[in-house]
Amino acid sequence: MGPKPVILDVDPGHDDAVAIMMACGSPGLDLLAVTTVAGNATLPKTTRNALRVLSLVGRTDVPVGAGASEPLERSLRTAEDIHGESGMDGPRIPEAAFEPDERGAVELIADTLKESPEPVALIPVGPLTNVAAFLRAHPELKGRISRISLMGGSMGLGNTTPAAEFNVYVDPEAAREVFESGLPVTMSGLDVTHQAGAGRAERDRLRGIGGVGEVVAGFLDFFAGTYERVFGFDAPPLHDPVAVAAVLEPGLLRTRLMNVEVECESDLTRGETVCDLHGVTGRPPNAEVGVGLDREAFFDLLHDSLKRL
Ligand code: BDR
Ligand code: CA
Repeated sequence: MGPKPVILDVDPGHDDAVAIMMACGSPGLDLLAVTTVAGNATLPKTTRNALRVLSLVGRTDVPVGAGASEPLERSLRTAEDIHGESGMDGPRIPEAAFEPDERGAVELIADTLKESPEPVALIPVGPLTNVAAFLRAHPELKGRISRISLMGGSMGLGNTTPAAEFNVYVDPEAAREVFESGLPVTMSGLDVTHQAGAGRAERDRLRGIGGVGEVVAGFLDFFAGTYERVFGFDAPPLHDPVAVAAVLEPGLLRTRLMNVEVECESDLTRGETVCDLHGVTGRPPNAEVGVGLDREAFFDLLHDSLKRL
């Protein structure tokens, strides 16, 4: 079997940047396109950051489509407290060596799916606005998507409110449309991404690679500082790379099939992913939800992929 074709939808973001690099350094994946969305920072910033990361690793051949600058129905909430003013503060990396694709996210996804001989996995690791917009615009191409492996949600507590994880909180209506799309969905929520915390030992191991590894370690040192300040622990979770790993090595993620509904009405619990682990509602399952991560194998996979860059 050849490499699995994938499209990454990102809002870089430190962990988004690592997810992009991991995809680029993995011979098991064929990164066909990157699309950007407003989330951790505004759209111009997340797009610039995605272009800079791809330029850094020499992948200016990957088209980058800029997508939604606002959630479907809500005002944008960004995360400068976690990712800094630029969305990717920390070590300075060179400016982008190429420009965004003129088609934009939705049409870039559409063309990429049409051109791929085999179905493509979508890996959205920011608010789900672009994916929902794509599904509305091109329902006829749904069959060209093999799976949606998303980072978002939580079976337990949130990180933006007590009930909600950031990506789903920012655009809950979009998340609801994705979970209700009928497509195979894998959800890597906080329950598993917090098992991928990059402590000092993991960061030093990545630094030891040199080159791109040093940049990643520098990003994660910055991320560790903001996590310590905001959440009180300094092993920042590599949220978004977990969604990449779930496609690359599905065995790393232990999942349970269940129904997930997204809360869009209540202000108190906006963006909560209500996960029916025990099947008490009788509602049909719509997602494979991550319940466990092989942490050691995950970090080995990340290390090996960054070493190849
Ligand atoms: C998610 O929110 C963002 O800050 C991260 O990039 C990740 O996608 C974690 O809640
Ligand atoms: Ca993200």
